Amino acid sequence: MTAQLDSFYPTGVTFGTLDEIHRAAVTALTPDILDFVEGGAGKEITLRANLAAFDGWRILPEPMSGVGAPSTRTELLGLRLETPILTAPFGGDALFHPDGHLAVARAAEQYGALSIVPEAGSFSYEQVRTAAPHAARIAQLHPFAHATAVADRVRRAGFDALCVTVDCPVGGFRTRNMANRFDPDQRLFAGNLTGENGAPGVAEVFGQLLKQGGTVWNWDELADAATGFGLPWIAKGILTPVAAERALAVGASALVVSNHGGRQLDPAPASLSALPSIRAAVGAEVPILLDSGIRTGSDVYLALALGADAVIIGRSAIYGLAAAGAPGVGRVLELLTEELRTLMILSGAASIEEIGSGRVQRVAS
Ligand SMILES: Cc1cc2nc3c(=O)[nH]c(=O)nc-3n(C[C@H](O)[C@H](O)[C@H](O)COP(=O)(O)O)c2cc1C
Repeated sequence: MTAQLDSFYPTGVTFGTLDEIHRAAVTALTPDILDFVEGGAGKEITLRANLAAFDGWRILPEPMSGVGAPSTRTELLGLRLETPILTAPFGGDALFHPDGHLAVARAAEQYGALSIVPEAGSFSYEQVRTAAPHAARIAQLHPFAHATAVADRVRRAGFDALCVTVDCPVGGFRTRNMANRFDPDQRLFAGNLTGENGAPGVAEVFGQLLKQGGTVWNWDELADAATGFGLPWIAKGILTPVAAERALAVGASALVVSNHGGRQLDPAPASLSALPSIRAAVGAEVPILLDSGIRTGSDVYLALALGADAVIIGRSAIYGLAAAGAPGVGRVLELLTEELRTLMILSGAASIEEIGSGRVQRVAS
C-alpha cells in the first residue's frame, strides 16, 4: 500500500493526519463554499450531535488476543470491498475541486472502496462510472417524478444498485447559506440534470428542493416507481425503526441510517444514537450503512460495533478532495482504514464481522 502511495503523490504532497487534510481544505475553499460544506440546518444541533455521539462510547481492549493482521474486507449487496467505507453522494462537487466525483471515485477505486455517485453532481453518472468502474457502482437519485427514467439510465450505464435519498423532499433550513446569500452556479449541479432526453433540468429539481408545498412522494409512490427500477435500491436517510420497516416493506434492500450530515431536519437524532434501535428492529440480515459524523477510524469502528455493516463519509471525503483531489481523498480513505485496522488489533477483532456490541461500552457523554 505504501509503495503505491508514493507514486500516488506525484507532487510529493503528503498529509500526516486527517486534521492536516481538514486544515488544507479550509485554506483551499472560499468562506461561503466552506460554510456550504461544513454547515447544517437550523441551530446545527444535529450537526454537533452527530460528532458528540461518538464520544459517548469506549472500545474495550483485548490484551494478548493474538490478532495481528485483521482483515477490513467486507461485502455489501454482493459487492466486494477492501474497506467498509464508502464515499457519499454530494452535489456540486466541482465547487471543491475541478475533478469532483471523478477524483473521488478514482481514489475509492485505488483503495478498494465504493463510491456513491450523486444525481446533483457536477459530472454525469456515466462519466464517473467510466472514470472508475470498480468503485462507481451505486448511483444516488432523488425520489421525484423522473425516478424511473433515471433508474433506466443508471442500469444501462452498468451500475449495480441505486441509493434513493428519502430525507430530502425539500432542502433543509440551511442558515449559513442564507446568511451568505449562497448562490452557486447551478451548472455545477447539472451533471445529470441536463433537461435533455426527458431528464429534468437542474432548475426544475432545484425549484422542487427549494420550494415548500412541492410535489412530495410518500412511500407508496416510491414503491410504485421502485417496481420499475430493475436494480436493488438502498434507502438513504432512515432515523427511526418505523421508517426502516416502511422502507423494507416497499422493497429497499439496504438502509442508510443518516440525517444527511445534519443538513436536513434539525434537531434530529444523531445517526449513531439512532442506529442500535434500527438494527434491533430489522434484525441481523438487513445490510445497514451509517453516515453523518464519521471523521476518524474510531468512529468507523463504533458504527460497525453498534450495528452498521459499513459507513459512508461525506465531509471527510470533501476535505480530501478540496485539499488535493484524488490523492487527498485516497489519503483520507487510507488513514481511516489504517486507524480502523489498528483498533481491530488492539481490541482483538480479526474481521469486520467480529466488531460487535460486546467490544464497546456506553459511557455518560
Ligand atoms: C456539500 C454536501 C452536498 C451533499 N449533497 C447531497 C446530495 O446531493 N444527495 C444526498 O443524498 N446527500 C447529499 N449530501 C449528504 C451526504 O451524502 C451525507 O449524507 C453526509 O455528508 C454525511 O455526513 P458527514 O458529512 O458528516 O459525513 C451532501 C452533503 C454535503 C456535505
